[in-house]
Amino acid sequence: MRIHILKNYEELSKKAAEIIKSQIVLKDDSVIGFATGSTPLGTYKELINMHKEGLDFSNITTFNLDEYYGLPASDVNSYHYFMYSNLFDHINVSKKKVHIPDGEVKDVDKFCKDYEGNIAKAGGIDLQILGIGKNGHIGFNEPDDNMDVPTHLTDLTEGTINANSRFFDSIDQVPKQAITMGLGTIMKSKRILLLASGEDKAEIIEKMLKAQVVTTNIPASFLFLHNNVDILVDEKAASLMER
Ligand code: F6R
Repeated sequence: MRIHILKNYEELSKKAAEIIKSQIVLKDDSVIGFATGSTPLGTYKELINMHKEGLDFSNITTFNLDEYYGLPASDVNSYHYFMYSNLFDHINVSKKKVHIPDGEVKDVDKFCKDYEGNIAKAGGIDLQILGIGKNGHIGFNEPDDNMDVPTHLTDLTEGTINANSRFFDSIDQVPKQAITMGLGTIMKSKRILLLASGEDKAEIIEKMLKAQVVTTNIPASFLFLHNNVDILVDEKAASLMER
């Protein structure tokens, strides 16, 4: 696990975008796993600028980590809407190669199996981008006694519903469930890039890195078992870490 401490959010976003760019330059048909949330927004802005300067996304395949269950893709709070408005509409990614879990699918089990199958058919994820929840979740793999391995439907915790209510008009509108890649799906990625920014994330980053244990209480701690992980933290998120 490589830990990089960046001066601020801007530097973190630039570094993350550089890593993604290198992956695409190295292999133009890379399979990239994308995340939503506030943290990668700066990275996506950098990628849009890189595209304006000539970075070609036309051969990449994408798989998103998760989607709220019960929201149509057209809803402004859906992760479909987030990805198109913040990235995909501004780069030359082929819409046919974009995969985001379907928040309205009826046969969830079949959908989740197919999602796994499609990742495998694409050759696996070359680079997976992750944020981290204040409770240590990655994707919507919430702390629990057991962790689901493949893509699955999951209940969101109260803490996550509260945290995500900032995007909705009221907390009642926040979906209670989501379809998410499982920890197994994430761990099969060839390389993982986890981003953490701001004081809000300092406690969980310190807790996870200090403990050096793998526990389902902190789903992100499973990344200790992966051999190709970069963790990018800005100074605020690193403020409680022992140097
Ligand atoms: C998003 C996702 C979540 C977020 C996490 C952090 O697709 O799967 O795990 O990465 O909740 O969210 P932000 O970046 O908003 O703090």
